[in-house]
Amino acid sequence: MPILYHESTGIFHLTNAYVSYLMRIMENGQLEHLYYGKRIRDREDFSHLHEEALRSHMVLSTPEPSSLALHYTGQEYPVYGTGDYKSPAVSILQENGSRISVFTYESFRVLAGKPSLQGLPAVYAESPEEASTLEISLFDTVSGTRLVLSYTLFENAPVITRHTRITQEGERPVRIERAMSTCVEFHDSSFEMLQLSGAWGRERYIHERALEMGIQAVQGLCGTCSGAEQNPFLALKRPGATERTGDVYGFSLVYSSSFLAQTEVSTHDMTRVMMGIHPDTFSWKLEQGQTFTTPEAVMVFSDQGLGGMSRTFHRLYRRRLARGFWRDRERPILLNNWEGTYFNFNEEKLLAMARKAKEAGIELFVLDDGWFGARNDDYRGLGDWQCNLDKIPSGIDGLSRKIEEIGLHFGLWVELEMVNMDSDLYRAHPDWILQTPGRVPSPSRHQYVLDYSRQEVVDHIYDMVAEILEKSRITYIKWDMNRYMSEGYSAHLGPERQGELMHRYILGVYSLYERLTSAFPEILFESCASGGARFDPGILYYAPQAWCSDDTDAWERCKIQYGTSLVYPLSMIGSHVSAVPNHQVFRMTPLETRGAVAMFGSFGYELDLDRLREEEFEIVKSQVKRMKTLRRLIQTDSDFYRLCSPFEKNEAGWICVSSDRTKAAACLCQKLNKVNASWLRFHLDGLREDLFYRISCMAGGKEWSYKAFGDELMYAGIPVDRECLTEAGGDFAAVIFVLEAQSTEADALKAGGKRVE
Ligand code: DGJ
Repeated sequence: MPILYHESTGIFHLTNAYVSYLMRIMENGQLEHLYYGKRIRDREDFSHLHEEALRSHMVLSTPEPSSLALHYTGQEYPVYGTGDYKSPAVSILQENGSRISVFTYESFRVLAGKPSLQGLPAVYAESPEEASTLEISLFDTVSGTRLVLSYTLFENAPVITRHTRITQEGERPVRIERAMSTCVEFHDSSFEMLQLSGAWGRERYIHERALEMGIQAVQGLCGTCSGAEQNPFLALKRPGATERTGDVYGFSLVYSSSFLAQTEVSTHDMTRVMMGIHPDTFSWKLEQGQTFTTPEAVMVFSDQGLGGMSRTFHRLYRRRLARGFWRDRERPILLNNWEGTYFNFNEEKLLAMARKAKEAGIELFVLDDGWFGARNDDYRGLGDWQCNLDKIPSGIDGLSRKIEEIGLHFGLWVELEMVNMDSDLYRAHPDWILQTPGRVPSPSRHQYVLDYSRQEVVDHIYDMVAEILEKSRITYIKWDMNRYMSEGYSAHLGPERQGELMHRYILGVYSLYERLTSAFPEILFESCASGGARFDPGILYYAPQAWCSDDTDAWERCKIQYGTSLVYPLSMIGSHVSAVPNHQVFRMTPLETRGAVAMFGSFGYELDLDRLREEEFEIVKSQVKRMKTLRRLIQTDSDFYRLCSPFEKNEAGWICVSSDRTKAAACLCQKLNKVNASWLRFHLDGLREDLFYRISCMAGGKEWSYKAFGDELMYAGIPVDRECLTEAGGDFAAVIFVLEAQSTEADALKAGGKRVE
């Protein structure tokens, strides 16, 4: 039983083979946080981990008889105003204007498995044995508000998930002004903070900084999505922790709207980490009997560095966040027409593109933006989800059938949350956009945000899109979303509920996703937001893959995908080969490299194959063929190890190793070629030391192979032939190594004492 309660000491111990998480009911009934980290043995009493010392008289203690100095105490879910002077986890405004609450312990229960979160995405357990859930109920008697802190510990993984439910039991309504999903206190501050930061075209770069006294935070205030600037994730690394070694704590929020992920180091070097809905743009009114549920936070502990943390997140998000038909399936290799045509296409052109794609071995043709309403540019048409018959006379249903006849599946782009003013939808329902009375709504890409907090809006969009899906042969939807929220105000919500808008908006998006994925369970949904501005576990619960970035340059993608892999598995990373000069950075990179980098993701093409030279088209054919042999390994059945960081070196490298460690695929990509260069050894990871592998490699049109034991490949490394990199294109060259186990050392010895060469 991984959740233990020691009644004599009031101690909760969540523990499995990897982690321990300790809390104590203090003398005044509040909850104290005692420890989170590597597993420690259980015992009845850990209360000595609570320490009191005579400190400043300025900082008060709780009323007698408990006399606890909360400011110096690790608290489980702190409030402000009763002796703690740091940022609180929860703040409840009461009718009389008071924000003081004292939540004291009432009861707890332990459940087998993991209950779902009403209307919210969350990781799940498939059986009651996989996880245990602890719910601790706390109550504030003055306001009549109940807090239920929920913790799920997975049986076989260093994973704890948390969320909070707040119920108003008292007669007077209250307003929640802040309700974090998790709050953890460490008793020291010896950490480095790691975050995934960026912008459009360079999403999720790895950024590290020393943890300093005071507040450090990453936040998204975009409303419609988590944003391209900061990902709802942060990690705390012990100094010296590396990719492979050392303790790392990862915090990830299963949420797609405005968020805060914050650390606060006190002047006594305690570190409070909290993560949840951003309080600046949030409030929620609770009437008697109503409950508010926060999004879920996922906490991963690793004593094997960042790599260990990532592999835990990958397994969890691939198998217990993603759901449904596509969860464990290899993803279709697609051709998307966007960068090949932009808005400039007609049915004939699309069919020609599809025929060429079929010839290359591609499996799915995706029609991107521009197929509906008067959408010949991005000034008009959004919201009018009827096919533009001038461009596509057969309609979407006819076109989808023709594509099927060619032998491909058909996929379609939509942007369901937005509207152009020049659209029939806006003309019919001008009040459906978010806008503040008396103020001019700001456009972004000439479009406006539909009010998804209104059920009728969501219903209307559902009806329009469901009709297309029912009539046509669609197996894939790219759900795009191309702007942040501004002048956020809903004509539908009363003045006292405007603080609920952003959260209600994203609940509306989640509910539409839920309806569509339930009604059309075999459609593969790919999320997109001006590239990768909505790459978060919240959306990945509904759409098992997301477009990672509009920047498809191979070297830029090395960085973006490397950063994204900190948290998200490769199956979730939308990655395409595009044309050169690249449309974002105007750089030339070898086609082989663009293919190699894109293969470590959900893989596809986004160009006009007809514009390739014959020899280039042959390369595409061989890439598609190769990906078909590798994708099971890359997308469904492997552990991922980062080998060299493009943020630190001239090379980027990584490897996917099958769960039985008999197969692997690695990629090494260099930025600039070097003259008279030093030796380059590529050290692999994750292999079985005693397995004898055949390594084959293709670069610059040459194929070569040799055999070696796993230990040699990991510790001595592969000597990389610089000439081979030069032949593979020089600057921005990439090499893929494919490994297959031949035998074990024991087999080799049996075969006459010699290694099997
Ligand atoms: C932004 C996306 O990131 C692109 O891939 C493309 O779908 C465009 N929108 C279409 O408008």
